[in-house]
Amino acid sequence: MEKIKTLVYNDALEGSKYVAKKIQELIEKNNKQNKKTVLGLATGSSPLKLYAELIRLHKEENLSFTNVISFNLDEYFPMKPDAVQSYHKFMFDNLFNHIDIKKENVNIPDGTLNEANVVAFCNQYESKIDAAGGLDLQILGIGRTGHIGFNEPGSAENSITRMVVLNDVTRTDAANDFGSKENVPVKAITMGVGTILKAKQVYLFAWGEKKASIVAESINGAITDQVPATFLQKHKNTTFILDKAASVVPA
Ligand code: F6R
Repeated sequence: MEKIKTLVYNDALEGSKYVAKKIQELIEKNNKQNKKTVLGLATGSSPLKLYAELIRLHKEENLSFTNVISFNLDEYFPMKPDAVQSYHKFMFDNLFNHIDIKKENVNIPDGTLNEANVVAFCNQYESKIDAAGGLDLQILGIGRTGHIGFNEPGSAENSITRMVVLNDVTRTDAANDFGSKENVPVKAITMGVGTILKAKQVYLFAWGEKKASIVAESINGAITDQVPATFLQKHKNTTFILDKAASVVPA
């Protein structure tokens, strides 16, 4: 009996379309009531099909994002917004440039800050989420360390947006994007576990057999800061969206 609601799809496309439809319904309901929709967004490979489907819904079904405010989970530090590996660039290339979201409503942690200003920036990021009314819906992927956002093992349940040091496994997994592991930044700015747990609804995507064991541990294992995704067991409205490969624990 899993401790987190889990839906298993034939493939990533089917699961992504299900969540895209949920986002469409939420935005359209809020638009009718003249309310903003606050989305928490992730980068990486896991949400790519979701973003493609949201673009399709915008282009073919007139889904409008003019009342959407977005907050991204994380960004490497340091990182220039136009660098190929930047999460800022990722979001504009894969979603924002293709929909009608207002630039001033897009929020992504700033990888160009002077380190002395990071704490103030992170506190403002939290306040900005609160001022927007909190995250209506948060999209997550999961790292092999069990990280959500860049909340690596050791992240506290009540952690907020902050500067973190990346886990060695995470830097190894990012090596391809940077040419080598040595080129992967050592730090990042990430929303905290506590920030994520305050979202009204959370969808976590995991595709492929490489994610199967960490997914199983997150859903069924003891809640521990050594696997930050296990904290989602405490969240009332989280759904894991898996393909078949991610749902089968290797023998
Ligand atoms: C990305 C993020 C990370 C990724 C995770 C999985 O904004 O916060 O937690 O979601 O590392 O990455 P992919 O989807 O590339 O397997």
